[in-house]
Amino acid sequence: MPLLSRRTLIQGSAVAAAYGIGAGIAGRFGTASAAPKPVGIDAVLTEGMIDGKTATKKLMTYALAGTSEPGLAPVLRMRKGEEFAARLSNRLDEPTTVHWHGLRIPNAMDGVPILTQPYVYPGDGFDYRFTPPDAGTFWYHPHCNTLTQIGRGMTGVIVVEDPKDAVFDAEVVLNLRDWRLGGDGQFIDQYKARDAAKSGTFGTVRTANWQSQPDYDVPAGGFLRLRIVASDVTRIYNLRINGAEAVIIAIDGQPLPRTTPLDMSVIAPGQRLDLVVRMPESEGASVDLEDIRPSRPKTIARFRSIGASLKRDLGDVAPLNPNPGVEPDLSSATEVPLVLSATAENSAENSICGSLGFSFWAINKVAWTGDSADPTAPLAEMKLGRTYLLNLQNVTPHAHPIHLHGMNFKVVSSSTGTVAPLISDTYLILPDERVQLALVADNPGDWVFHCHIIEHQKTGMTGYLRVA
Ligand code: C2O
Ligand code: CU
Repeated sequence: MPLLSRRTLIQGSAVAAAYGIGAGIAGRFGTASAAPKPVGIDAVLTEGMIDGKTATKKLMTYALAGTSEPGLAPVLRMRKGEEFAARLSNRLDEPTTVHWHGLRIPNAMDGVPILTQPYVYPGDGFDYRFTPPDAGTFWYHPHCNTLTQIGRGMTGVIVVEDPKDAVFDAEVVLNLRDWRLGGDGQFIDQYKARDAAKSGTFGTVRTANWQSQPDYDVPAGGFLRLRIVASDVTRIYNLRINGAEAVIIAIDGQPLPRTTPLDMSVIAPGQRLDLVVRMPESEGASVDLEDIRPSRPKTIARFRSIGASLKRDLGDVAPLNPNPGVEPDLSSATEVPLVLSATAENSAENSICGSLGFSFWAINKVAWTGDSADPTAPLAEMKLGRTYLLNLQNVTPHAHPIHLHGMNFKVVSSSTGTVAPLISDTYLILPDERVQLALVADNPGDWVFHCHIIEHQKTGMTGYLRVA
């Protein structure tokens, strides 16, 4: 039998590529025939060097099926408008799922236990299949026992390519995250209740791609495309580039209509930042990516110029090809009030996907910890195709990177002053801020809406929007 290339297959199914169509084909192993060959992704337990001194045991990660020594989860490459398939095999000793953060795909593929799919038990699997409609930098992670599973390593980057995008001289993907390790290199308690009730519990070891301050060689005078993902459970970064000029080309996967010089950019858990850095002319010169949020700046990664200068000019970087737009019709928008608040310390119900034992946070006064068999009522019921204006209000003294599954929103206005009309899936709402986020309810299903500081998500700052 002639082997069909993935390309051919995808072209054949391109008509059905608009999301929504072709939903629900996936199930447990055993898919319809005309699918691209699934990428085998195993959820595994492993050990590895994180702090540079001792092997950390009980790491959790994703590995391509058959990988003998799993480490950092693989970067998954997809193409805008082309079908992608993955077969998850759960080799952990607890249930899991995969959520594709930022991809606007059918609800049945969204990876939220109970709400969109059954738990995937140890030894079991699940077939995911979807067509990403947007190009950009996204990521994948479990949506079950997330503080433990993400905290112990299960975060991977997704690159959705657009054949129309410019090719740069080098590309580096950076998965930024911390680990809560003790002096012996082993995991310590993932959280402290008193911190979960505040900004969240921070890790003790910082890494980029599971390494502390990794180094990369890049052509001198060339363009380096940096794809940065904040996949930590808690940490917010104030990123800057030291030693070179850089421009922002995309935020949260979405291309900016105009490239913007990078001064400092804040990215919170769940968010992404795509930069083009113009490397220095002279061989050996180095450029640092730094986090200047802490009082003493921390170097996250370093890039060294090598070879003869390519003599690029940052002014030549064109905006990326836009993604299919979200065009909210504000004149007919229905307003949805969403108040983020703290709650009294009620204890939370237990769940198959783990519980931290508290509920510290709420949306519209309801504390839901997600992952439970009896979801609360939806925060709003939306009509397919209509525009909604989420009037989000943060009445807590902490910042919350609030994330919506399955749809993008556009930032309309904020009490903090003028805002850029960014399109995104995650918005960092500051203490006491009010923000208006407009969305077109164009993807049917139950879509989780939660804070991406995982302790906040797991202690009540979770809800969902129903689109039908
Ligand atoms: Cu990164 Cu519920 O999401
Ligand atoms: Cu939060």
